[in-house]
Amino acid sequence: MEKKLFKRITTRTLHEMKKMNEKISMLTAYDYTFSKILDEANIDIILVGDSASNVFAGNETTVPITLDEMIYHAKSVVKGAKRALVVVDMPFGTYQSNPDKALKSAIRIMKESGAHAVKLEGGKEVSESISKIINAGIPVMGHLGLTPQSIYKFGTYNVRGKNKIEADQLIEDAQSLEKLGCFSTVLEKIPHKLSEEISKKTKFPLIGIGAGNNVDGQVLVIHDLIGLTNEFNPRFIRRYLDLNSSIKSAVSQFIKDVKSSDFPSKDEMY
Ligand code: KIV
Repeated sequence: MEKKLFKRITTRTLHEMKKMNEKISMLTAYDYTFSKILDEANIDIILVGDSASNVFAGNETTVPITLDEMIYHAKSVVKGAKRALVVVDMPFGTYQSNPDKALKSAIRIMKESGAHAVKLEGGKEVSESISKIINAGIPVMGHLGLTPQSIYKFGTYNVRGKNKIEADQLIEDAQSLEKLGCFSTVLEKIPHKLSEEISKKTKFPLIGIGAGNNVDGQVLVIHDLIGLTNEFNPRFIRRYLDLNSSIKSAVSQFIKDVKSSDFPSKDEMY
């Protein structure tokens, strides 16, 4: 019998990793090439984030990206991921208004892209949608704290959960997501002490972005991690490369070589 080379990460694997105290790594990807690179580097979860709206489509917020556009990105990412769990963000407007619409949107994502789970933002206000999707057999990851799809409600991208009312609400929302059956949740831009409290009061894997170290894993946007973006500088980003400068200098060199007829050389001709 042919030996399987890759063991796929599943939602169950994530729970096992939490039990074993093994931290979970998660990064975004929006296309086949990046997905394949991240997968070959053994990332645990690839998130087809609606941050595609910012870094890919050039929009100011995540609000405009559509379901069709997310499915397009997700399809390409799925093709590149042999080992990682692929989670797709449900875009704004596809799950908030009614649970039937939410289920239809989640089914489209799963059927058309081949992804393994969906992620959506919010707490108790979206609990009916979450239940409906989970009851249909689709794994759901939550997203609490800074929820960029609600930027026009909050008006800022500041740290969330700094006052007691907001912090208590976040704890309640995290507990409710777990109760509803979400396999995990992202906690974005909240005080690390609050993450610690949420961690003590829940059992499911918590993935942080700007939420400190008292969580079970970390997620970043790949464009930030490799320094393709250089204008967005919140303190939670760690840049491992400066590809923005590297690409600009490669392009400048190419332009120089073309203008001077240095490129192509004899070896680069037929
Ligand atoms: O869309 C996205 O990239 C995200 C991460 C920042 C968690 O939701």
